[in-house]
Amino acid sequence: MKWLNDAVFYEIYPQSFLDTNGDGIGDIPGIIARLDYISGTGFNAIWLNPWFESPFRDAEYDISDFYSVAKRYGTNEDARRLFAEAHKRGIHVILDLVICHTAPEHPWFTASCRLERNERSDLFIWSPMLSYRGDRTEPDDYYISGWSPKGSYKASFFAVQPAVNYGFGKVRHPWEMPYSHPQCRKNRALMLEVMRFWLRMGCDGFRVDMAGSVVKRDPEQKYTQKFWRETRKEIEAEFPEAVLVSEWFNPARSIPAGFHVDFYGSSSFRNDNWMTHENKGKIPFTDHYAGGLGKWIQDLEKTRAAIGKKGFPGLFSGNHDVWRMRHYSSLQAMAVNMALLLTLPGCPFIYYGDEIGMKYLPGVSAEGSDSRGGSRTPMQWNRTGNLGFSTADPQKLYLPVDSSDDAPTVEEALAGKNPLYTAIKQLLALRKAHKALQAQGEFRIEHGRAGRFPLAYERSCGKERLWVVLNPTDRPAECVCKHDLKPLLVGGECRIHNGKALLAPASYGIYLLEGSSPKNKIRKE
Ligand code: GLC
Ligand code: CA
Repeated sequence: MKWLNDAVFYEIYPQSFLDTNGDGIGDIPGIIARLDYISGTGFNAIWLNPWFESPFRDAEYDISDFYSVAKRYGTNEDARRLFAEAHKRGIHVILDLVICHTAPEHPWFTASCRLERNERSDLFIWSPMLSYRGDRTEPDDYYISGWSPKGSYKASFFAVQPAVNYGFGKVRHPWEMPYSHPQCRKNRALMLEVMRFWLRMGCDGFRVDMAGSVVKRDPEQKYTQKFWRETRKEIEAEFPEAVLVSEWFNPARSIPAGFHVDFYGSSSFRNDNWMTHENKGKIPFTDHYAGGLGKWIQDLEKTRAAIGKKGFPGLFSGNHDVWRMRHYSSLQAMAVNMALLLTLPGCPFIYYGDEIGMKYLPGVSAEGSDSRGGSRTPMQWNRTGNLGFSTADPQKLYLPVDSSDDAPTVEEALAGKNPLYTAIKQLLALRKAHKALQAQGEFRIEHGRAGRFPLAYERSCGKERLWVVLNPTDRPAECVCKHDLKPLLVGGECRIHNGKALLAPASYGIYLLEGSSPKNKIRKE
């Protein structure tokens, strides 16, 4: 997919971005109002967390109407306007597709609950036993009783998320249908209609929630892969530019199954994010990711070898499910992380607020977020009330704003007072100007594979060759460097001297390699 090569995504949690009508909840007009900020920073793609009608028990990952924007965010007309306004600025927008389950309030599910047969009876997975709890020896055999006289339903994630029936890889109970069952094909077709609806309206693709879990009891995910290969084919025939991003966390499986991008790293809700580190406030990477950066980068090489040119690993700064990077890293350390994220081969995703180093706020929760609430707090725009997020009474906000004196804001960042934001802006401009740094550019590790720092690698595209060196640790680091280099961007203290690259803690350098010819020159900020 061509537009993905230089795409850099900005993930927006709609309820926490900007409230324009004073009800304490972010809305679509708020996102539209900030498109210039987003594109001015250097992002050219947006992933929106779900904005559909919902009883909000898992903050909208429990949908009661796939065809309507929830009233608290605006209308479908606002959605259409958002797509159009984004496109005017060269921004692609992808939506969250929650394909594995609905909310119990969804009319599809209420119909399915009824005793008399109807067209939705087998849209969900029902055991005829009224209090069947599932076989606990199976990891995802999770049934809920008490909703229908008809039996117990299989839940997908939380109990309030009845699983849509796309069939089973291995059938074990009499009520289970095999993947190839015509009913399961019909159920898939229903969701394809949902996809078509939003694509026709102007969205550019989807981030697919729990994409690896559509087919049940599918240990090698062969049927799940089949499901997606078929889906990609059908969607692509009608919408050749539409992009599919999976929440699967296994690119070696998801890309061959038809996804253009899959997140690389871990799905763990707490602090297992690839860029974070337990040692709060210190430099990340030193011994995280079960073996540190050396192991992480080797795994990335393997992943790339497995997926070839068919798709890209999605490299993320954070997301609505994990604790923010700032919880583990200083602003300076975050800048090195961002330098890595934005110069590696793959598709970067930056979580709203990470560009200014928003903090994780412990102990806050809304709509089933639990500990994830701390990463979902309102965007911090300026020093006015509620940090410019909303004019509502602070008690009425979706989640509280960061009340600390040093809470970073966009206003200060734009005034040049936030070194992390300045670094991200420079990195985004550099990535835009150099094809070698983009998703498809070649990648060759020169130093650091064994876990020793600094990490140094070459990125190239045609004749253009760039050299990147990073020290994400809290100690100085050096490596041999016999290249003839022209500096493009240096963060912290990084010097090339006497055949060596010498880096102070938390620094990086990006250089043009002698003899290479850049496709275009870096724009002066
Ligand atoms: C995904 C979402 C998460 C949600 C879950 C259930 O992991 O990212 O926020 O709770 O799926 O839909
Ligand atoms: Ca609002």
